Amino acid sequence: MDREGDAPADDAEIAKKPSSSIAPVAETPHATEWLLDAIVENIPNMIFVKDAENLEFALCNRAGEALLGLSRDTLLGKSDFDLFPRADAEFFQKKDRETLEKKVLVDITEEPLRTDNGVRWLHTKKVPILDAEGRPRFLLGISEDITDRKLADAALREAKTRAEAASAELEAFSYSVAHDLRAPLRAIDGYSEALLDDYADKLDDEGQRHLRSVRKAAQRMADLIDDLLTLSRTSRAELRRERADLTALARATVDRLRRTDPGRAVDVIVEEGLTALADPRLVAVALDNLVGNAWKFTSKKPHARIEVGTAPQQRTGDAATFFVRDDGVGFDMTYVEKLFNPFQRLHAPSEYDGTGIGLATVQRIVRRHGGRAWAEGAVHAGATIYFTLETDEDR
Ligand SMILES: Nc1ncnc2c1ncn2[C@@H]1O[C@H](COP(=O)(O)OP(=O)(O)O)[C@@H](O)[C@H]1O
Ligand SMILES: [Mg+2]
Repeated sequence: MDREGDAPADDAEIAKKPSSSIAPVAETPHATEWLLDAIVENIPNMIFVKDAENLEFALCNRAGEALLGLSRDTLLGKSDFDLFPRADAEFFQKKDRETLEKKVLVDITEEPLRTDNGVRWLHTKKVPILDAEGRPRFLLGISEDITDRKLADAALREAKTRAEAASAELEAFSYSVAHDLRAPLRAIDGYSEALLDDYADKLDDEGQRHLRSVRKAAQRMADLIDDLLTLSRTSRAELRRERADLTALARATVDRLRRTDPGRAVDVIVEEGLTALADPRLVAVALDNLVGNAWKFTSKKPHARIEVGTAPQQRTGDAATFFVRDDGVGFDMTYVEKLFNPFQRLHAPSEYDGTGIGLATVQRIVRRHGGRAWAEGAVHAGATIYFTLETDEDR
């Protein structure tokens, strides 16, 4: 740094602008130089200056000495070729020349530095320092040691990869177990049915009742397996985002429910034009579960009402909040956190059958799309399940 000539002027500058922290310093001769030295010395990043002509070190601060593992005495007046492996020195000087020739700041986001303390990774900025004629005189370098951050990032990435692999393996395992359970279950149910049909005359009433219980249990287990497979598939299926028509999907589910349960009196109101940027197959599974629940948990009402729509006041950014609401049996908000866990049910199977996997599936689907799902309800006062999904338009 060639600043001898202009040091007094700088002193005058500082003296003219009193500041509580530097004013006392400014009164001493060469105050600016003294102050700048202190700053450069104490800054936690490596700061170095090289001569523009032969690229020899002209300055290096304390952080630089520590990082390089070299004292100033060894460093000053030497070039990169005297200090570092040839390939590294070539890289450093190439960047130096680029900075000085183009007279621009060069930002090197990651460069390895082989030191006696092992490899350190640096984020370096190189700045040309020009003289009054605009000729490059010095090269200023500022390097941040990002080794720890890099290691942490790599560890995090590795942990994530391992967790994903473990989860995929578990998912594949449960999928194949569930799948393999189906065949023996079909046999149990099939032979029980055959016994009931073909040997009814040889079985007394109690024997037939037992067999019907076997069949019922087998069918319940088949439902469980199907639901588990659906849950598993929602995690494995590739996500294909397109324009999903939630209005049409919800109405299709309602039509299906009306056909299987024609005796029910249910007013269903589905908002027009509900769309999201989401995988239509997965959204269909989610709506099937939500509308199916609303249908099921209103089944004891002579006249029920189900509503599917959006909550515009809950809109955040690109996501819309959708809801499925019913005026059925509702639930106790004390246990609301449990609802979305697999196998958790707040209602007895004797009153409302089910496997407790539906809402877990809904949550997985919504989360895979980057959204969230939550529930509100009260005992005997209905339930509302909310979920957010990205939309392709501003409402
Ligand atoms: N619309 C609803 N009204 C009242 N309770 C609900 C509703 N939807 C879900 N629940 C509660 O959440 C539990 C979990 O739901 P879900 O995972 O779909 O299981 P399932 O429908 O098989 O019982 C249900 O057993 C019920 O207790
Ligand atoms: Mg359900």
